[in-house]
Amino acid sequence: MANPSLLILAGDGIGPEVMAEVKKIIAWMGSRRGIRFSVSEDLVGGCAYDAHGTPLTDETMARAQAADAVLLGAVGGPKYDKLDFSVKPERGLLRLRKEMDLYANLRPAQCFDALADFSSLKKEIIAGLDIMIVRELTGGVYFGEPRGIFPDNEGGRVGINTQRYTTNEIRRVARSAFELARRRNNKVCSMEKANVMESGILWREEVQWVHDNEYPDVELSHMYADAGAMQLVRWPKQFDVIVTDNLFGDLLSDCAAMLTGSLGMLPSASLGAPMKNGRPKALYEPVHGSAPDIAGQGKANPIACILSFAMALRYSFDLGDEAARVEKAVEKVLADGVRTADLMGPEGGKPVSTSGMGDAIVTALDASLA
Ligand code: IPM
Ligand code: MG
Repeated sequence: MANPSLLILAGDGIGPEVMAEVKKIIAWMGSRRGIRFSVSEDLVGGCAYDAHGTPLTDETMARAQAADAVLLGAVGGPKYDKLDFSVKPERGLLRLRKEMDLYANLRPAQCFDALADFSSLKKEIIAGLDIMIVRELTGGVYFGEPRGIFPDNEGGRVGINTQRYTTNEIRRVARSAFELARRRNNKVCSMEKANVMESGILWREEVQWVHDNEYPDVELSHMYADAGAMQLVRWPKQFDVIVTDNLFGDLLSDCAAMLTGSLGMLPSASLGAPMKNGRPKALYEPVHGSAPDIAGQGKANPIACILSFAMALRYSFDLGDEAARVEKAVEKVLADGVRTADLMGPEGGKPVSTSGMGDAIVTALDASLA
């Protein structure tokens, strides 16, 4: 059988640097575990705009659709701030999510013991934290119509976006959340603003419907998203799986990410419906962005991107043991005190470079076989 295909879209800013470290892990899996992928690369975001005048060409889109999994670095940068909205780097990423129909975005927020001091919250609040945010990724205000900037009746302008959710869109992402919960601590908290938004009322009712009809064994609670944000920083360990819409999920996942000490640590998986081969349509990317301020300096933390590849092993290729091996290697390296610049505490010390971190993880992987 042919090796499964991986399409790498490293993108902009620190994307290519952190992806270079992922390639070391991919190579390691091939040489040391006999797990081989057929890897190809292409452009997305600002670099695609520079080359082709669009942040994602139709050819790249087609290759992403055909791949067994897509690994993405990051998109965007100040150089592209003035571009027309329709060709901004972010549009490339949003097109991938939408056309691949990657409706369930899994954003785990896990606190590594070695980093418990790095959080802006007290250690006891975040030590051992392990929650999963499931963000709806292809609907809501990100894509709702009508949208645009139009002249208003007073000689000014009006900016419009539409929050819109259908029964089907809510139910399918709710199912993803309940499925995950069953394999974790069996709890789902759904977040919306049913107190001010009709779409929030529908969200709450449909999530409850899926629960009552299909997952009555899972514990379900509902929270307004603002209260949810507050609870996330007050006592995050009360949560297991959080399911929420596209925009609230964007905000809450950044907030949850920071609980763990660094945005440079958090991976994500964006999953759609199963393809013919039974694998879900899938794109894996770090939660952090392109960090243009440190791009090209070898300072970026590659862990989020490496952990995103681990998620690919688990969710696309059914290689949960190998995913855990990568996660344990990361844990080991952190426990040994290896730190990129973003993980340096006030006590100081000497940070390793991006590639230094990648190499340390490869060494820890080697050690896992000894
Ligand atoms: C994210 C990012 C994206 C989003 C941007 C880059 C379009 O913030 O993945 O969280 O808003 O979804
Ligand atoms: Mg975001």
